[in-house]
Amino acid sequence: MAKKKYSLTVFGCQMNERDAETLKGFLEELGYEETAETENADLVIINTCAVRQKAEDKVFAQIGRLGKLKKARPEMMIAICGCMVQQEVVARKLIKKHPFVDLVFGTHNIAAFPALLQRATESSEPLLDLWDEAGDVVEGLPVSRKDGVRAWVNITYGCNNFCAYCIVPYVRGRERSRHPAEIMDEISNLARQGYQEVTLLGQNVNSYGKDLIEQIDFSDLLQRVDRESGINRVRFMTSHPRDWNEKLARVIADGINICEHVHLPIQSGSNRILTLMNRGYSREHYQEQVQVLRRYVPNCAISTDLIVGFPGETEADFLVTLEVVEQVSFDAAFTFLYSQRSGTPAAKMPAQINSEVKKERFQRLLEIQNKHSLRHNQQLIGKTVEVLVEGRSKTNPDVLSGRTRGGKTVNFVGEGVFAGDLLQVEISEAKTWSLLGRINVENRNANDKAVQGD
Ligand code: SAH
Ligand code: SF4
Ligand code: F3S
Repeated sequence: MAKKKYSLTVFGCQMNERDAETLKGFLEELGYEETAETENADLVIINTCAVRQKAEDKVFAQIGRLGKLKKARPEMMIAICGCMVQQEVVARKLIKKHPFVDLVFGTHNIAAFPALLQRATESSEPLLDLWDEAGDVVEGLPVSRKDGVRAWVNITYGCNNFCAYCIVPYVRGRERSRHPAEIMDEISNLARQGYQEVTLLGQNVNSYGKDLIEQIDFSDLLQRVDRESGINRVRFMTSHPRDWNEKLARVIADGINICEHVHLPIQSGSNRILTLMNRGYSREHYQEQVQVLRRYVPNCAISTDLIVGFPGETEADFLVTLEVVEQVSFDAAFTFLYSQRSGTPAAKMPAQINSEVKKERFQRLLEIQNKHSLRHNQQLIGKTVEVLVEGRSKTNPDVLSGRTRGGKTVNFVGEGVFAGDLLQVEISEAKTWSLLGRINVENRNANDKAVQGD
């Protein structure tokens, strides 16, 4: 009998990507196989994000389109999960607007997915199952990872920070740390399976371990992963500037396999706005931590997130942000227009900034940041750097693509190169978002995983 087919769309951040790998793991155990053709799928799943208000409208529209397919093939199951529907009002609105949906579940009950799917199959009504509380961390869930080279590994779930603009703490629950032994086992297994790189994932990795009985903090964990797991590259995200400390900078400096890249979201350069955002640090503290990091790890790439147009942001506040961006000189920045996300305190703040002003500021910020991104990339021209090959470039299949330890994308031409190879590549050209290079043949270090499509 032909296998049942599922299609899975993921919105949002790596947390959602990682959850999707668990859903896929369950589905493979249940005998499903993945298809890219939604119209032929027996089960269509959308893992939603809630971080920006607009994302919600997009998902509603997408589900609306699924309605047509469902009419043609009523046996097709539709399941919606993730952060957006963890908000009960949104989940109820969705079912009311699109009653053909079969299953809606949240972020806290992923472990119950097979049972929920079964119950939904037997029910003629849409099944809505949301848990208010996250409960304990559930270990041992199946996982289907495709890439074979890089893997995401959760170290904490949830967030306790309640930044004023952010919905994540409301849809992902309180912060819970995984036990170090579970994390180490997972990473050692990945290394044995041939994975080259892991990224330790948490909304605020720096607060790892605070809820555990054992005495362990993030620096300790990172050092253990570096020394004991056998994996060739370790990354982590996201770091919170308030909880960043010198010990961590030292661990990175002493590390062997820890990549020299830190993602440290600043959000704004204005102390007044940082206070309104409830970020818990000042511009001065941020800059001091960057100095400490660069003192210990001089070649460390630093990237950031910035929000433009937070309620009450004046031109003067914004100019301070530009000044900090000039001073710190980030390797890369993810810049966001502030989104008035309902359910967060900032959505009710006075002095919301109009969209024209936001867009105009956004452009100015981008211009400055692009200059710095290009400058950092240009500094690599002529240098030979370690690149982990990920596969063929998505935009040009004649070219191979990989990443430096600093997290920069390098495109290069090569024969007999495989995904998972750690190569020495000489950088020949710099663009704002990527680098071009050529393989330094003498320093090759290949393993045996073929690039997909070869
Ligand atoms: N835990 C991480 C990531 C959170 S979400 C952290 O603290 O950095 C990723 C980014 O989305 C945030 O860093 C922030 O820059 C952006 N973001 C979150 N809510 C937003 C909103 N309402 N409007 C615009 N950007 C937002
Ligand atoms: Fe959101 Fe702040 Fe938590 Fe990051 S640290 S997930 S921005 S509340
Ligand atoms: Fe991530 Fe979006 Fe949820 S950013 S944690 S998927 S709200």
